[in-house]
Amino acid sequence: MKIISVVNGPKNISAIVQGCMRMPALSKEDAAKVIRTAYDCGINFYDHATCYGENGEAETRFAEAFPLTGIKREDIFIQSKCGLCFDRNEFDWTKENILQSVDDSLRRLNIEYLDALLLHRPDVLYDPEDVADAFNILEHAGKVRHFGVSNLVPMQIELLKKYVKQPLVFNQVQLSLEQSQLIDQALYMNNKTTEFSVNRDGNALDYCRLHDITIQAWSPLQIGMFGGTFIDNPDFPELNKALEKIAEREGASKTAVAIAWILRHPAKMQAIIGTMNPEHIKDACKAADVNLSHHDWYELYLAAGKYLP
Ligand SMILES: NC(=O)c1ccc[n+]([C@@H]2O[C@H](COP(=O)([O-])OP(=O)(O)OC[C@H]3O[C@@H](n4cnc5c(N)ncnc54)[C@H](OP(=O)(O)O)[C@@H]3O)[C@@H](O)[C@H]2O)c1
Repeated sequence: MKIISVVNGPKNISAIVQGCMRMPALSKEDAAKVIRTAYDCGINFYDHATCYGENGEAETRFAEAFPLTGIKREDIFIQSKCGLCFDRNEFDWTKENILQSVDDSLRRLNIEYLDALLLHRPDVLYDPEDVADAFNILEHAGKVRHFGVSNLVPMQIELLKKYVKQPLVFNQVQLSLEQSQLIDQALYMNNKTTEFSVNRDGNALDYCRLHDITIQAWSPLQIGMFGGTFIDNPDFPELNKALEKIAEREGASKTAVAIAWILRHPAKMQAIIGTMNPEHIKDACKAADVNLSHHDWYELYLAAGKYLP
């Protein structure tokens, strides 16, 4: 496994993260297999959110399963996210909601502290001083060790940073070979003949690199948001051909190569995988051993339907 350390943040964390969004569908025995398989493959970082499953069921299932794994709490990093309230159809970054969400996550996960708390999606109505208060209380109480955000553009992070005294060390955003907007707009800069040039994120990638914020790439295999995977998908023949060619050479799966494409980027990102299939977890974790050359990286990018301007 590739291990990274975050400036001002956690050290020795795995570059591949096990996402737990799909865990509510599992029995506690199957959830234990997922947690243990990921751990045996070198993953030491698990991603949650208060909105994964009804009433935070992903966190509940994780806690039910965890004692069956034989893993020690202190040997893993547990992250959760708050502020996305599907049940109420709103985003909520009020102090009350942040504090309540963390208490709920800790209770459901049956742990004393979160290694990281991310604000999930921007609440337009939030008051940064309110967030700052909440973070201070959580840090002081030892309930949260590191803080970050998800799906935020640089100016939103700048505004938060004016008030929040804790370093914001993660920005969890969507990135895959199929959803590569984070990278596209820089390549096609200022080109009005293609929509690849549209700057949708305020240069979040370069901003995060400049400010030592580690990008966590969510849904590294997904088409759109919930469109299924492009792996083995007949709608993506060129991409699958290019993945297969490198996979054969590297003795790895196409999944591993697709995730290696993210890890190859010099920004030292994490990739958050979502499969609940232990064999697919093993496949994905081989990404850390795939050696992608400079040329391979571009070849995959182009096979995903892009061109060089
Ligand atoms: N911050 C945010 O806004 C946000 C949003 C969405 C997700 N997330 C995080 O990102 C995590 C991952 O999301 P995701 O589940 O959408 O990501 P993903 O890992 O890109 O997609 C998982 C899909 O890929 C399939 N897959 C995996 N390995 C495969 C293989 N070897 N062959 C064929 N299909 C394969 C899975 O099917 P199988 O189940 O059959 O393996 C599943 O349908 C979530 O758990 C969550 O933690 C964050």
